[in-house]
Amino acid sequence: MTSSTEIRILTTPQELFAAAAEEVIRATTDAVSNRGRFTIALSGGSTPKNLFNLLATNARTSLPWDQMFFFWSDERHVPPTDPDSNYRMANEAMLSKIPVPAANIFRVPAENPDATAAAQAYDETLQKFFQSKPGEFPRFDLILLGLGPDGHTASLFPETAALEEKSRLVVANRVEKFKTDRITFTLPLLNAARSVAFLVSGTDKAAALHAVLEDATAPATHYPAKLVHPGLGKLTWFLDKAAASELSTATGKA
Ligand code: 6PG
Repeated sequence: MTSSTEIRILTTPQELFAAAAEEVIRATTDAVSNRGRFTIALSGGSTPKNLFNLLATNARTSLPWDQMFFFWSDERHVPPTDPDSNYRMANEAMLSKIPVPAANIFRVPAENPDATAAAQAYDETLQKFFQSKPGEFPRFDLILLGLGPDGHTASLFPETAALEEKSRLVVANRVEKFKTDRITFTLPLLNAARSVAFLVSGTDKAAALHAVLEDATAPATHYPAKLVHPGLGKLTWFLDKAAASELSTATGKA
């Protein structure tokens, strides 16, 4: 399979989340019928919450939740009970409302006061689950990502050390502007996926989107989302009209 990139521009956030939900259902059906299971990495922040709610309501009885395995493409360095926890958001919006076995949910052990140790533990969890060897990059069926106004994705922030990582699956990444560490998938793991879907909503993302999708002069280390290109996979940008407002009309389709 060669890589492909698709930019979908939906009129409203609701249409964006409906289209993204269709993609999750499509990818689940494809993975389960071809490989007997579906592996997904969830994004954090606020944007995916509406997608999770939609899946937990509209697809509660139609998805094979017992054959679906949940991971996180990044996590804040906080316990799972913390309001900033990406796990907590996904659990409240979806996982606590669907019949998925607890054994199918692999959250980042971010309560560990040592972020590097938490990242190492999660790296080992992935290697064990995918039965991959060190240096090998397992292929998720679908990785969800967001985009920050600064062009970051997962917790790969501009000009940070994690952008250089070439061998590990998960690392701790110091984010000076927030005076904190984050735990994040690395670029090689993101780019090994069968499918990556960005969900981007709102005008505050328009400038970063233009830089990532249209401005060839914008350095990738300033806009890390530019570095996400699954070599043998599919890349889909789900944008609403507000987020796409600085893109040239030639870019994207509904
Ligand atoms: C996180 C995310 C991060 C997020 C963007 C967009 O932990 O914050 O994974 O990469 O996707 O910051 O966040 P919003 O959806 O809140 O705008």
